[in-house]
Amino acid sequence: MEKTRILVTGGTGYIGSHTTVELINAGYDVVIIDNLSNSNADVIDGIEAITGVRPAFVKGDCTDVATLRKLFTDYPGIKGIINFAASKAVGESVQKPLLYYRNNLDTLINLLELMPEFGVKGFVFSSSCTVYGEPDVNPVTEQSPIKAATSPYGNTKQISEEIITDAIHAGAPWNAIILRYFNPVGAHPTALIGELPNGVPQNLLPYLTQTAMGIRKELSVFGDDYPTRDGSCIRDYINVVDLAKAHVIAVKRLVEEKTLEPVEIFNLGTGDGVSVLELINTFEQATGVKVPHKIVGRRAGDITQVWADPSRANNVLGWTAKETLADTMISAWKWQEHLREKGIM
Ligand code: UD1
Repeated sequence: MEKTRILVTGGTGYIGSHTTVELINAGYDVVIIDNLSNSNADVIDGIEAITGVRPAFVKGDCTDVATLRKLFTDYPGIKGIINFAASKAVGESVQKPLLYYRNNLDTLINLLELMPEFGVKGFVFSSSCTVYGEPDVNPVTEQSPIKAATSPYGNTKQISEEIITDAIHAGAPWNAIILRYFNPVGAHPTALIGELPNGVPQNLLPYLTQTAMGIRKELSVFGDDYPTRDGSCIRDYINVVDLAKAHVIAVKRLVEEKTLEPVEIFNLGTGDGVSVLELINTFEQATGVKVPHKIVGRRAGDITQVWADPSRANNVLGWTAKETLADTMISAWKWQEHLREKGIM
């Protein structure tokens, strides 16, 4: 039987590469497009080493409609798109809002416009728990109120969700699944792919593992005076392989036209809130490696706490986060060790 062809935009990035592996393992034919603005073509080697299959790769920018049209022509019969291609740094988005709106929204609109022309049936969108802002109640369900965005990055996620929904309401001939990620962390257990941020990491886990490796002197814990159990912020840290598997289920559901509504929304989290200090502690316990850290002031724009009610994804998709936080920390550490062995960091 011929394999179902899926387009993964941003497929050499952190979540895109892990999702590509799971798609290949599930028997899909994957085409990746990535402009390599925040990733490296070597990631394809890692994907091949894990799966034994080399996915098709197009170096290109999804904001360019001609590039996309050529891709759909060169790789006919694409049935579903998983759209990871986007800029994602909250701080940078405040400095360069137009870049963020241009990249994230042009990419989305180009893809959605081309879907009918090339007969693509399903669209999976990477959204974020950032749409809930600082929730009044935790855990958050998909019905929890959407709060005003606090960064252009967050705003692109909200606007993108609205664009998708508006297009569906106007009778678009495709269906969509919007996945709201909590905090993706960890790496593939083989340590052949993982998260590789450019420059000084802004996110907690890469900063933590780089500190544990001695690349950074000390991890700054942004605030211990929040109204939480230990004063540090609380998030829902979701293993990236678990997250990737949810995308395979979502795209399958779309391609097989099994969705209950033309646009479905799911939270992807574990359901457990973990504080920054608890995360450091779990890492140290699991790996036996110390993380030098100090408490500093709060980071502007941080919210106090957010964690998911993932029961809709559990019940409707049949997906549950399976990895323990300790195993996830071990995978993140193995990836950092792999980068050291390769002389990359
Ligand atoms: C935010 C967004 C998320 C977005 C992500 C992209 C929210 C709730 N989440 O995640 O949607 O996809 O950025 O970058 O808005 N921390 C430290 N020291 C550090 C780094 C982080 O203490 O050096 C703390 C932060 O204060 C926070 C936690 O670690 O409490 C997680 O931070 P981070 O990894 O940056 O993710 P979020 O800000 O939660």
